[in-house]
Amino acid sequence: MSRAKRKMDHIEHSLSTGQERKHGFEDITFVHQSLPDSSVANVKLHTKIGELFLSSPIFINAMTGGGGEQTYRINKSLASVARKCGLVLAVGSQMSAIKDPDEAFTYRVVREENPNGIILANLGSEATVEQAKRAVDMVEANALQIHLNVIQELVMPEGDRDFTGALKQIEQITNTLSVPIIVKETGFGISKEAAEELKGIGVSSVDVGGFGGTNFSKIENARRSKKLQYFDSWGIPTTTSIVEVKEVMQQHGSVIASGGVQSPLDIAKSIALGASAVGMAGYLLKILLADGEEGLIEEITSIHEDLTMIMTALGVNTIDQLKQVPLIISGNTHHWLTERGMDTKKFSIKR
Ligand code: FNR
Repeated sequence: MSRAKRKMDHIEHSLSTGQERKHGFEDITFVHQSLPDSSVANVKLHTKIGELFLSSPIFINAMTGGGGEQTYRINKSLASVARKCGLVLAVGSQMSAIKDPDEAFTYRVVREENPNGIILANLGSEATVEQAKRAVDMVEANALQIHLNVIQELVMPEGDRDFTGALKQIEQITNTLSVPIIVKETGFGISKEAAEELKGIGVSSVDVGGFGGTNFSKIENARRSKKLQYFDSWGIPTTTSIVEVKEVMQQHGSVIASGGVQSPLDIAKSIALGASAVGMAGYLLKILLADGEEGLIEEITSIHEDLTMIMTALGVNTIDQLKQVPLIISGNTHHWLTERGMDTKKFSIKR
C-alpha cells in the first residue's frame, strides 16, 4: 500500500474509531476556592515550552501531510486556524516527503499559510540527522517533534519490527540540530523510565501522548485481517503519564500533555498536574472536517474563554500559577501512581 493511501486511511479510521475517553481526567478534582481574589480580565493564557513562547497553551498536534491534495487542504486549513487563533501547529510525519519530494507541497503549505507562526516539523525516531534537517527546512520549523510509535508500527501490517538504536538516533539529532527537539508518543504514554532515558541524552521537552484519546492500535487493527486486539487497551493513561514524566523533568524541562484532550477542563487539569502546554489532534480534526475552518475557530475561541473562566474560579492569573493549584487524585490514577511510588499528596496542597 502507498504511504499516501495510508495517510488517508489513518484520517478515516481515526474518525470512525473515535476517542477512548479513558485518559484519567475524571480522577482529577480541583479544590474549590470561595475567595479566589481574581478577575476574568486579569487572566493571561501565554506559556513557554523550553525557549518557545506561546500565546496559548493549546497546540494542534501532528496529524497529516504526504497524502496529496486532500492532506494539502487539511494542512492549509489547520495552518489558517492556527494563525487566526495564535496556536502552535505540528505537521504529520514528513518521511513521505523525504522519500518522495513531490509530496513536500502538502507540508510547505503550513508555512505559506502561517508565515510568522510557530510550526513544528515531525519525523519518527528512525530518522537520520540529515533527514531531520531536511524536515525542519521544508517547513522552516521552529522545533522538531520526534514521534515514538512502537505499538502502532507493530500493529501496522507493513510496519517496522526492529526498534533497536532509537535512543541513539534521537541523541544524534538532539546534539546536531539548531532547533529545539520535542519527543512525543502517539497515544500510548511515556513512562518515568523512558523520560529518564530521554533526559539523559539532553531532551528537555516531552509530549506524553497518553492513552485515552486517538487509539492507533484500533486504527491499525481496522486495516488488518488478523487483529492484535491485546494492544487496543495497552498504554499509560494521559493523567498518569503527565505525572510520571513531570517527576523526571521537574523544573528543568517542559511537559506537554496530550492524548484525548477535548475540553477546557481537561486542559486545566493537565496544566495543574504539571504540563506547560496541551496538544490536541483527533478532536480538532473531527471538528474541522465536520464544521470547517469557521467551526474550528469557534470551538477554539470557546475553549480559550472557558479556560479563562476556570482559571478565574481557581484564583489564578497565569499558566504558571495554574501549575500550583491544589487538586485531589483518585481512582485508577491514584492507584497507579501509588503503586509506582509517586507522591499524590503533594498535589492536594498549594505548591
Ligand atoms: C496522528 N498522530 C501523529 N503523530 C505524529 O507524531 N506523527 C504523525 O504523522 C501522526 N499522524 C496522525 C494522524 C491522525 C489522523 C491522527 C488523529 C493522529 C498522533 C497525534 O499527534 C497524537 O499524538 C495522538 O492522536 C493522540 O492525541 P489525540 O488525538 O488523542 O488528541
